[in-house]
Amino acid sequence: MQNKQELKPYLMKYKITPISVKENIAIADELLEALHLSELNKNPHTAAWESIRHGYLQYIISCQENCDGRFLIASNEDGAIGFIFGYIDEQDESNFEKETGDDLYVSEGFIKEAYRKQGIYSALNTAFEQHYKDYNIRRIYRYTLCNNLTMQHWLGKNGYNPVRLVYEKWLRPS
Ligand SMILES: CC(C)(COP(=O)(O)OP(=O)(O)OC[C@H]1O[C@@H](n2cnc3c(N)ncnc32)[C@H](O)[C@@H]1OP(=O)(O)O)[C@@H](O)C(=O)NCCC(=O)NCCS
Repeated sequence: MQNKQELKPYLMKYKITPISVKENIAIADELLEALHLSELNKNPHTAAWESIRHGYLQYIISCQENCDGRFLIASNEDGAIGFIFGYIDEQDESNFEKETGDDLYVSEGFIKEAYRKQGIYSALNTAFEQHYKDYNIRRIYRYTLCNNLTMQHWLGKNGYNPVRLVYEKWLRPS
Protein backbone atom coordinates (compact mmCIF):
# COMPACT_ATOMS: atom_id res chain seq x y z
CA MET A 1 0.00 0.00 0.00
CA GLN A 2 1.23 3.52 -0.83
CA ASN A 3 1.96 5.80 2.07
CA LYS A 4 0.80 9.44 2.04
CA GLN A 5 4.10 10.87 0.83
CA GLU A 6 3.90 8.71 -2.29
CA LEU A 7 0.37 9.69 -3.26
CA LYS A 8 0.17 11.72 -6.46
CA PRO A 9 -1.79 15.00 -6.32
CA TYR A 10 -4.68 13.62 -8.35
CA LEU A 11 -5.04 10.77 -5.83
CA MET A 12 -4.74 12.97 -2.75
CA LYS A 13 -8.23 14.11 -1.84
CA TYR A 14 -8.47 17.23 0.27
CA LYS A 15 -10.72 20.22 0.51
CA ILE A 16 -10.11 23.91 1.10
CA THR A 17 -12.40 25.70 3.56
CA PRO A 18 -12.44 29.17 5.14
CA ILE A 19 -12.71 29.12 8.93
CA SER A 20 -13.42 31.66 11.64
CA VAL A 21 -10.44 31.41 13.98
CA LYS A 22 -12.54 32.51 16.95
CA GLU A 23 -14.94 29.61 16.38
CA ASN A 24 -12.21 27.08 15.55
CA ILE A 25 -9.49 27.90 18.07
CA ALA A 26 -8.29 24.29 18.42
CA ILE A 27 -7.65 23.92 14.66
CA ALA A 28 -5.90 27.29 14.39
CA ASP A 29 -3.87 26.58 17.51
CA GLU A 30 -2.64 23.23 16.16
CA LEU A 31 -1.66 24.65 12.77
CA LEU A 32 -0.05 27.82 14.11
CA GLU A 33 1.92 25.83 16.66
CA ALA A 34 3.23 23.54 13.91
CA LEU A 35 4.27 26.56 11.84
CA HIS A 36 5.85 28.10 14.91
CA LEU A 37 7.92 24.95 15.53
CA SER A 38 9.16 24.98 11.96
CA GLU A 39 10.14 28.66 12.45
CA LEU A 40 11.96 27.74 15.66
CA ASN A 41 14.06 25.25 13.71
CA LYS A 42 15.19 28.05 11.41
CA ASN A 43 15.34 31.01 13.80
CA PRO A 44 16.60 30.64 17.40
CA HIS A 45 14.91 33.92 18.41
CA THR A 46 11.49 32.30 17.99
CA ALA A 47 9.64 32.26 21.33
CA ALA A 48 8.19 29.09 22.88
CA TRP A 49 4.65 28.67 21.51
CA GLU A 50 3.27 28.14 25.05
CA SER A 51 4.50 31.57 26.07
CA ILE A 52 2.84 33.45 23.22
CA ARG A 53 -0.08 31.17 22.26
CA HIS A 54 -2.89 33.20 23.81
CA GLY A 55 -1.71 36.61 22.59
CA TYR A 56 -0.88 35.34 19.11
CA LEU A 57 -4.27 33.71 18.63
CA GLN A 58 -5.92 36.95 19.77
CA TYR A 59 -3.82 38.87 17.23
CA ILE A 60 -4.95 36.52 14.43
CA ILE A 61 -8.60 36.84 15.52
CA SER A 62 -8.31 40.61 15.61
CA CYS A 63 -6.76 40.72 12.09
CA GLN A 64 -9.48 38.43 10.82
CA GLU A 65 -12.27 40.52 12.30
CA ASN A 66 -10.91 44.04 11.80
CA CYS A 67 -8.78 43.78 8.67
CA ASP A 68 -10.77 41.47 6.42
CA GLY A 69 -8.55 38.51 7.27
CA ARG A 70 -8.98 35.15 5.56
CA PHE A 71 -7.92 31.86 7.22
CA LEU A 72 -8.15 28.94 4.79
CA ILE A 73 -7.45 25.37 5.81
CA ALA A 74 -6.77 22.32 3.67
CA SER A 75 -8.17 19.17 5.23
CA ASN A 76 -8.68 15.49 4.48
CA GLU A 77 -10.00 12.50 6.41
CA ASP A 78 -7.12 12.93 8.91
CA GLY A 79 -8.16 16.52 9.72
CA ALA A 80 -6.42 19.81 8.91
CA ILE A 81 -3.23 19.35 6.88
CA GLY A 82 -2.27 22.95 6.14
CA PHE A 83 -3.37 26.55 6.05
CA ILE A 84 -2.82 30.08 4.80
CA PHE A 85 -3.71 33.32 6.57
CA GLY A 86 -3.54 36.94 5.48
CA TYR A 87 -5.33 40.25 5.82
CA ILE A 88 -5.71 43.71 4.35
CA ASP A 89 -3.10 46.27 5.29
CA GLU A 90 -4.74 49.63 4.53
CA GLN A 91 -2.59 52.28 2.92
CA ASP A 92 -1.94 55.26 5.22
CA GLU A 93 0.18 58.43 5.33
CA SER A 94 3.36 56.44 5.89
CA ASN A 95 3.16 55.10 2.33
CA PHE A 96 6.01 56.21 0.09
CA GLU A 97 5.62 53.79 -2.79
CA LYS A 98 3.83 54.10 -6.13
CA GLU A 99 0.18 53.29 -6.82
CA THR A 100 -2.90 53.73 -4.72
CA GLY A 101 -4.81 50.88 -3.14
CA ASP A 102 -4.38 48.66 -0.12
CA ASP A 103 -1.83 45.92 0.40
CA LEU A 104 -2.63 42.29 1.11
CA TYR A 105 -0.30 40.84 3.74
CA VAL A 106 0.08 37.06 3.86
CA SER A 107 1.32 36.51 7.38
CA GLU A 108 1.25 32.71 7.76
CA GLY A 109 1.36 29.53 5.72
CA PHE A 110 2.11 25.90 6.49
CA ILE A 111 1.61 22.38 5.16
CA LYS A 112 2.21 19.30 7.34
CA GLU A 113 5.37 17.53 6.26
CA ALA A 114 3.69 14.36 4.99
CA TYR A 115 1.63 16.38 2.51
CA ARG A 116 4.24 18.72 1.05
CA LYS A 117 5.27 19.03 -2.60
CA GLN A 118 1.86 18.03 -3.88
CA GLY A 119 0.66 21.51 -4.76
CA ILE A 120 -1.54 21.92 -1.66
CA TYR A 121 -0.04 25.21 -0.56
CA SER A 122 -0.27 26.50 -4.14
CA ALA A 123 -3.96 25.55 -4.17
CA LEU A 124 -4.54 27.34 -0.86
CA ASN A 125 -2.78 30.41 -2.22
CA THR A 126 -4.88 30.42 -5.41
CA ALA A 127 -8.10 30.22 -3.38
CA PHE A 128 -6.81 32.93 -1.06
CA GLU A 129 -5.96 35.34 -3.90
CA GLN A 130 -9.26 34.58 -5.60
CA HIS A 131 -11.13 35.74 -2.51
CA TYR A 132 -9.57 39.22 -2.79
CA LYS A 133 -9.88 39.61 -6.56
CA ASP A 134 -12.46 42.42 -6.36
CA TYR A 135 -10.66 44.38 -3.64
CA ASN A 136 -8.62 47.47 -4.52
CA ILE A 137 -5.24 45.89 -3.83
CA ARG A 138 -1.98 47.14 -5.32
CA ARG A 139 0.39 44.44 -4.05
CA ILE A 140 0.64 41.29 -1.98
CA TYR A 141 3.60 41.02 0.37
CA ARG A 142 5.15 38.55 2.77
CA TYR A 143 8.24 38.05 4.90
CA THR A 144 10.29 34.92 4.97
CA LEU A 145 13.50 33.93 6.73
CA CYS A 146 16.78 34.24 4.83
CA ASN A 147 17.39 30.51 5.37
CA ASN A 148 13.92 29.39 4.27
CA LEU A 149 14.99 28.37 0.79
CA THR A 150 11.90 26.22 0.21
CA MET A 151 9.61 29.21 0.70
CA GLN A 152 11.87 31.44 -1.37
CA HIS A 153 11.72 28.90 -4.20
CA TRP A 154 7.92 28.83 -3.93
CA LEU A 155 7.69 32.64 -3.88
CA GLY A 156 9.92 32.95 -6.95
CA LYS A 157 7.63 30.63 -8.88
CA ASN A 158 4.50 32.45 -7.78
CA GLY A 159 5.13 35.98 -8.95
CA TYR A 160 7.04 37.41 -5.96
CA ASN A 161 10.37 39.26 -6.08
CA PRO A 162 12.62 39.88 -3.08
CA VAL A 163 12.73 43.67 -2.50
CA ARG A 164 14.37 44.47 0.83
CA LEU A 165 16.36 42.76 3.56
CA VAL A 166 15.42 43.19 7.22
CA TYR A 167 18.53 43.46 9.41
CA GLU A 168 18.25 42.69 13.13
CA LYS A 169 20.61 43.31 16.00
CA TRP A 170 19.49 41.48 19.13
CA LEU A 171 20.55 43.29 22.31
CA ARG A 172 19.92 40.62 24.94
CA PRO A 173 21.30 37.08 24.94
CA SER A 174 18.51 34.52 24.48
C1 LIG B 1 6.60 26.29 2.09
C2 LIG B 1 5.44 25.28 2.13
C3 LIG B 1 4.20 25.97 2.70
C4 LIG B 1 5.17 24.79 0.71
O1 LIG B 1 4.05 23.90 0.76
P1 LIG B 1 3.83 22.79 -0.38
O2 LIG B 1 2.41 22.33 -0.27
O3 LIG B 1 4.91 21.77 -0.29
O4 LIG B 1 4.03 23.64 -1.68
P2 LIG B 1 3.59 23.17 -3.12
O5 LIG B 1 3.46 21.69 -3.17
O6 LIG B 1 2.44 23.99 -3.55
O7 LIG B 1 4.91 23.53 -3.91
C5 LIG B 1 5.04 24.57 -4.88
C6 LIG B 1 6.42 24.56 -5.45
O8 LIG B 1 7.41 24.59 -4.44
C7 LIG B 1 8.30 23.50 -4.67
N1 LIG B 1 8.77 22.96 -3.43
C8 LIG B 1 8.01 22.49 -2.43
N2 LIG B 1 8.83 22.00 -1.46
C9 LIG B 1 10.12 22.17 -1.89
C10 LIG B 1 11.39 21.87 -1.35
N3 LIG B 1 11.52 21.24 -0.14
N4 LIG B 1 12.51 22.22 -2.03
C11 LIG B 1 12.40 22.84 -3.21
N5 LIG B 1 11.20 23.13 -3.79
C12 LIG B 1 10.08 22.79 -3.13
C13 LIG B 1 7.50 22.48 -5.41
O9 LIG B 1 8.37 21.62 -6.13
C14 LIG B 1 6.68 23.34 -6.29
O10 LIG B 1 7.41 23.75 -7.40
P3 LIG B 1 7.01 23.26 -8.84
O11 LIG B 1 5.96 24.22 -9.29
O12 LIG B 1 8.27 23.32 -9.59
O13 LIG B 1 6.46 21.88 -8.71
C15 LIG B 1 5.82 24.05 3.00
O14 LIG B 1 7.08 23.57 2.58
C16 LIG B 1 5.86 24.34 4.48
O15 LIG B 1 4.85 24.26 5.18
N6 LIG B 1 7.06 24.66 5.01
C17 LIG B 1 7.23 24.94 6.46
C18 LIG B 1 6.53 26.20 6.87
C19 LIG B 1 7.02 27.40 6.12
O16 LIG B 1 8.21 27.54 5.81
N7 LIG B 1 6.10 28.31 5.87
C20 LIG B 1 6.39 29.57 5.23
C21 LIG B 1 6.84 30.57 6.24
S1 LIG B 1 7.25 32.12 5.49
